[in-house]
Amino acid sequence: MQAQINGITLAFNDQGTGLPIIFLHAFPLNRTMWAKQEEALSTQFRVITIDLRGHGESDAPLWHYSLDQAADDVRGLLDYLSIRQAIFVGLSMGGYMLFAFYRKYAEYVKGLVLADTKAQADTDEGKQARFEMAQVAYTRGPSAIADIMVPKLLSPATIQTRPELVQRVRTMIEGNQVSGIAGDLMAMAARADSLPLLNQITCPTQIIVGDLDLPTPPSDAKLMADQIPNVHLAIIPGAAHLSNLEQPGLFNETVRSFVEMALSKQSLGIADATSSNQF
Ligand code: MLT
Repeated sequence: MQAQINGITLAFNDQGTGLPIIFLHAFPLNRTMWAKQEEALSTQFRVITIDLRGHGESDAPLWHYSLDQAADDVRGLLDYLSIRQAIFVGLSMGGYMLFAFYRKYAEYVKGLVLADTKAQADTDEGKQARFEMAQVAYTRGPSAIADIMVPKLLSPATIQTRPELVQRVRTMIEGNQVSGIAGDLMAMAARADSLPLLNQITCPTQIIVGDLDLPTPPSDAKLMADQIPNVHLAIIPGAAHLSNLEQPGLFNETVRSFVEMALSKQSLGIADATSSNQF
């Protein structure tokens, strides 16, 4: 499906009925990374997956990108779909966008799932690495970005034994335009430090992290869990950065239980407690 939002075309899927769950993908992928979540959860909930500006089938204008602008795009799509409140799931860059979204539009957020992401801003070295990656995208194209990203996104075991999953991830990366890749690198480099936001996140929050995640390791997840008041932490074994793709069963059950718990506690008017879950 497509909608005209903030002057560009945004592509999205909208499946199922009930409480909306909005899925925001990682860099530099697209909404098809959520196929297994869509399949499993749309039997019970309304599942909306979005190609963020610059990715997949959405427009990738050659211009300035920011996470606030991505938050405005998501808000625009929610208004287009007449959705007033939802659960939001963001993985890595999708999580960075959720911090921006929460800052601007907390009233839309019934619950947050922050997967394989972190609250800290980029260091100076991190910003320099983004600049260098943008030059690689410009001079050698998206397949050179796939060469760099695949070993960061997937575990060594997956790379060795699951060639079809590796190829799926490569295809998602290679399907992006350079303007979108460079735009999101700029947006991530300029993002705010979200550590001061954490203790102001009052909605129920689920943190998920693969135990083998290198870009955003379990220590980053624990740092967030220590500061968000109403939080659950799940560490998923045998998964690296793309925990939803490497361990979809565990990922889906974590999201399903969280959403059911958030709904039942809300209907009973019970405040939540912090807990942690290691599978
Ligand atoms: C992602 O998976 O979205 C990226 O690894 C995030 C990042 O580069 O910081």
